[in-house]
Amino acid sequence: MSSRHVDGSLASIVCRVARETWELDAYRDLRRAIFCDEQRLFEQDDEDEWDQLAVPIVAVRTGAERDALVGVVRIYEPSPGVWYGGRLGVDVSCRSTSYVGRSLVVKAVTTAHAWGCREFWAIVQTPNVPFFQRLHWHAVEELEAHGIPHTKMKADLDHYPPSEDADIAWRPKASSYDAA
Ligand SMILES: CC(C)(COP(=O)(O)OP(=O)(O)OC[C@H]1O[C@@H](n2cnc3c(N)ncnc32)[C@H](O)[C@@H]1OP(=O)(O)O)[C@@H](O)C(=O)NCCC(=O)NCCS
Repeated sequence: MSSRHVDGSLASIVCRVARETWELDAYRDLRRAIFCDEQRLFEQDDEDEWDQLAVPIVAVRTGAERDALVGVVRIYEPSPGVWYGGRLGVDVSCRSTSYVGRSLVVKAVTTAHAWGCREFWAIVQTPNVPFFQRLHWHAVEELEAHGIPHTKMKADLDHYPPSEDADIAWRPKASSYDAA
């Protein structure tokens, strides 16, 4: 788990695999708030078949009166060693801190790397390409998804050493290629 104070207060941000019920509920709520209500990419729910095997990762703001979930991302392994990240989102109130979105990406890729990832991909909204390029991702292909321009990008794993934190004990048992 990584943690940092982001605003000079006692509150700090921790990125971790979501396991507690409140985290999983808030993870779904924040996804809906960002991808349905804000961006209108989906009508009522952005869940799809990948959520059956995806690992939910969350950014939690701790140290205030009560913990609050402020960011989300999911990772999944469609074929052996090949991982995808998706549904990266940060609560509007916590964007552009130079920390939350970046930390979720680091957490996602380093966790997958610890679980045997050889390639890590994402299909990102094209306006966000510079955000990923700064984090050592490379654009590979332009395409359209959900009616808007997207870019398929690949992370440079040399910049994402395998995580050694306690969350790597939570490797999912079944991936799509062995779940049949
Ligand atoms: C894209 C998103 C996840 C970035 O999260 P964030 O917490 O604001 O990002 P950070 O503050 O960690 O930014 C890290 C760096 O990237 C920069 N950055 C952030 N968004 C950027 C963008 N769209 N283009 C270029 N640079 C960007 C920041 O300025 C910061 O740079 P710095 O380190 O020099 O200060 C967030 O804006 C978001 O949730 N957007 C809505 C949902 C969305 O578009 N999801 C992505 C789908 S591909």
